[in-house]
Amino acid sequence: MIALPRLHLLLLILGSASLCLRAQETVRIGEFASLTGKEAAFGQSSHKGTVLAIEKLNAGGGLLGRKVELFTEDNQSKPGESTTAVRKLISRNKIVALLGEVASSRSLEAAPIAQGAHIPMVSPSSTNPEVTQRGPYIFRVCFIDPFQGAVLAKFAFNSLHAHRVGVLSSVSSAYSVGLAKYFAEPYVAAGGVIAIAQKYSEGDKDFKAQLTAIRAAGVDAIFVPGYYTEAALIAKQARELGLTIPLFGGDGWEAPQLLEIGGTAVEGCYYSTHYSPEDPAPLVQQFVQAFQARWGGEMPDAMAALGYDSALMLADAIKRAGSTDGARIRDALAATKGFAGVTGTTSMDADRNASKAAVIVVIKDGRFQFLESVAP
Ligand code: PHE
Repeated sequence: MIALPRLHLLLLILGSASLCLRAQETVRIGEFASLTGKEAAFGQSSHKGTVLAIEKLNAGGGLLGRKVELFTEDNQSKPGESTTAVRKLISRNKIVALLGEVASSRSLEAAPIAQGAHIPMVSPSSTNPEVTQRGPYIFRVCFIDPFQGAVLAKFAFNSLHAHRVGVLSSVSSAYSVGLAKYFAEPYVAAGGVIAIAQKYSEGDKDFKAQLTAIRAAGVDAIFVPGYYTEAALIAKQARELGLTIPLFGGDGWEAPQLLEIGGTAVEGCYYSTHYSPEDPAPLVQQFVQAFQARWGGEMPDAMAALGYDSALMLADAIKRAGSTDGARIRDALAATKGFAGVTGTTSMDADRNASKAAVIVVIKDGRFQFLESVAP
């Protein structure tokens, strides 16, 4: 009986001590990205966009009266490493929310960990539909591949007048497997013929056998739903085999390395993506300016823009939640309506996906040029 008042006093002291501590705490946000390795261009870009957003938030006073602190882990573009990275961010860095990943396979790998820990996760640019199906704590700020596939099918059939195509996709990337399928359905429904479908694995360097088979099939264009490293090599080897037809792909093509590795082989090729820095909209141009000022004149690509948008959309949700509690942030993210970002306006649908316009880019005179925008 006598111990009770003492216990109260102790709790009171502990309580006020933790209040003082909390006043100085930061809002801890985690990011996992491929900063090195095969898809380093993806991670570097989205990271730069994310950093710019966090700096902008802090310049404006932070979040909930606290500074925002970004903890970044590199997964080296390697399978298995995202799991380690995200576990560390959650248990060691005590993050309240997670940003990442660009690539769908790596988002799929990490999502169950975030979901299990009830840490809201926002992927900037993973477009495979399964990513957000991993649980109610998993969100994205980009469109999904059933839309991107339909955009590409329509573009190939109507604009390229390619009525017979060959497909060369990766078996070891969830993104590539999905995009090949989501292209084929609407393309065939429109009357297109997939004359031949060939496969490769991530990291392959020699595509001559597949391309020889595609050449023999007599197609109007080649669809390569993969990432830039392989896409550039495929284009080069296609030209070496005498194939002059256009190649086209999805957002995975977007990296300066596509031009560096592909050279003249990628001239007259096309891909779909999320945004164009040539868009005259004030929000886009302000972002391009701020990004270039921060990162030595570098032109922000789609991953940079989506990295920026993912961080600001998360911040908007934390503000509306008025709390860093995982469940509250999750509910606020799910309630996102009309969030104005650089890559368009985001409203979360019931499956925690965003529905946004796509952009078609043509490679001309050694650079990426905006061709058209396709509404959802
Ligand atoms: N959408 C790709 C994926 O899901 C990743 C990506 C996004 C690549 C944006 C380039 C630009 O794997």
